[in-house]
Amino acid sequence: MAVERLQKILAKAGYGSRRACEDLIRAGRVKVNGKVAVLGEKADPKNDLITVDGERVVINERYVYVLLNKPKGYVSTVHDPQGRPKVTDLVKIPGVRLFPVGRLDLNTCGLLLLTNDGEFAFLMTHPKHAIWKTYQALVQGKPSLDAIERLRKGVPLPEGRTAPAEVRLLKTLSDKAVLEISIREGKKRQVRRMCQFVGHPVLELKRTKFAFLTLGDLRPGQFRYLTSEEVAKLKEMARKE
Ligand code: URA
Repeated sequence: MAVERLQKILAKAGYGSRRACEDLIRAGRVKVNGKVAVLGEKADPKNDLITVDGERVVINERYVYVLLNKPKGYVSTVHDPQGRPKVTDLVKIPGVRLFPVGRLDLNTCGLLLLTNDGEFAFLMTHPKHAIWKTYQALVQGKPSLDAIERLRKGVPLPEGRTAPAEVRLLKTLSDKAVLEISIREGKKRQVRRMCQFVGHPVLELKRTKFAFLTLGDLRPGQFRYLTSEEVAKLKEMARKE
C-alpha cells in the first residue's frame, strides 16, 4: 500500500469517518513511529508503525455493513463518557470494530447503518453526496398547509437555511399529527428543529428510510447485514450525486 494521508488510513482501519479520524489526529492520540502525528501528515501503513492511544493500527479489509433498527435510549457513538447504552452494544461481531454511519439522537429510533469502512461512512454522510433520509415524526398539534409548505421550502436555522424537503401529512390524531419528512442534509437534530420552528414540537421520531433501504421486518434492536449489491448501489448513488 502506498503512502496516504493519515486520516484516510485510520478511516480504512475502522476508526470512524475521515472527519472523526482528523479529530483523533488533532487530539494528539495518533503517533507515527513513536512521534505524535499532525494533521496533513502522510504515512505508509505497511512500513510505518501507526498507533491510536498506543494501540497498533491494522487495516482489516473485511468490511462489514449492518442495518440496525435502533431503539430509543441508545447513543449513536462507540464511546459514551456517561456510560449510556450504545448502538454498538447491539451489534457485536468478533474482531470487527463497527461505528455508526452518521447519527440518530438518543430518543430517535429506526434505521441506522453501522460499518467498519470509514470511506463508506464518509461517502454516505458527506453533505455533497446528499443521500435522502426519511423520517416519521409524531408532532404536537395539526400542522396547517402553510406550516407544511414552510417545512418543504426550508426553514432558517442558526447555521443556515434547511434545503428543500419532501413533507407529507400521514395522519392526524386529536391534537397530534404524523408527518413524513425526507431530507438530504444531516444538520444536528434537524427534523426536531424544523418542526419546532413551525410550531409543532416533535414528540416521537423514527427514521424509516435511508436512500432505498427500509426497516423491513426488523424489530427494535434487531439488525441485518447489507448485501454486496446494496452496498454497491449506495456507493454508486453517492458518487453520482
Ligand atoms: N433529525 C433529528 O432531529 N434527529 C435525528 O435523530 C435525526 C434527524
